[in-house]
Amino acid sequence: MKKITALLLGAVMALSLAACGGSASSAAASSAASSEAASSEAAASETTEAAALTTVNAGKLTMSTNAAFPPYEMTTDAGELEGIDVEIAGAIADKLGLELQIDDMDFDAALLAAQQGKSDMVMAGVTVNEERKQVMDFSNTYASGVQVVIVKEGSDIATVDDLAGHMIGTQRGTTGYIYCSDDFGEDSVTAYDDGLTAVQALNNGQVDCVVIDSAPAKEFVAANEGLVILDTEYAVEDYAIGMAKGNTALVEAVNGALAELKADGTIDAILAKYIKAE
Ligand code: ARG
Repeated sequence: MKKITALLLGAVMALSLAACGGSASSAAASSAASSEAASSEAAASETTEAAALTTVNAGKLTMSTNAAFPPYEMTTDAGELEGIDVEIAGAIADKLGLELQIDDMDFDAALLAAQQGKSDMVMAGVTVNEERKQVMDFSNTYASGVQVVIVKEGSDIATVDDLAGHMIGTQRGTTGYIYCSDDFGEDSVTAYDDGLTAVQALNNGQVDCVVIDSAPAKEFVAANEGLVILDTEYAVEDYAIGMAKGNTALVEAVNGALAELKADGTIDAILAKYIKAE
């Protein structure tokens, strides 16, 4: 799968870039984001690291997300937000002495909010890729994802190559949308507001398959009779937290918290709670 090789190469490049301590292409960074970053950096030099954190809402860690992506973020019947990202974000906020505030919106809006500094971070099962790295900074990765294909039982689609000539459903703004429109043409891909809506379109016969991350795919297939996930993987990805480009103080604080939560087993415990071993 060429996609996977490209992604792996991307990951290697990302590691070497990280080692150099910077991104190769900062030209695309918005001037608004960089001037904000400059002022928060100035603040960081005056005080200790933790105290220097300037956030969008004082005393709070504001996270934008799209809570329609189980088990990473979802809304309970009672209207509460829960999931892997919600719990990890809560643990990060605790470490930073901030109160977690979650703003639920469409996925593309959640990315943009962090990019434009309207939220402190986007945490939404966000895949790290080169395009996004040009417009936002990412934390270290905290989980991995796989793009998979959901079809109806008995479908003539058996591998990713079979997607050619079929209608594909995806969530707007996701890597699934990007891969499919690159590989099979935009006319073959329909973008829905969220993954569940795409799955409902598959149920109704409006699309022939859905390309989405494997963890939500498993949840949607479990809840909808007659659907199956193909064995072949479309792409393997890393999830990370996105922040406004140049907000080094926040990226470092979040990475510090993530490292501690990895070391003490908190992240593994949260992942194990929501993703049952196969
Ligand atoms: N991992 C995919 C991406 O980054 C999909 C993420 C969708 N997340 C969500 N909360 N709806 O593009």
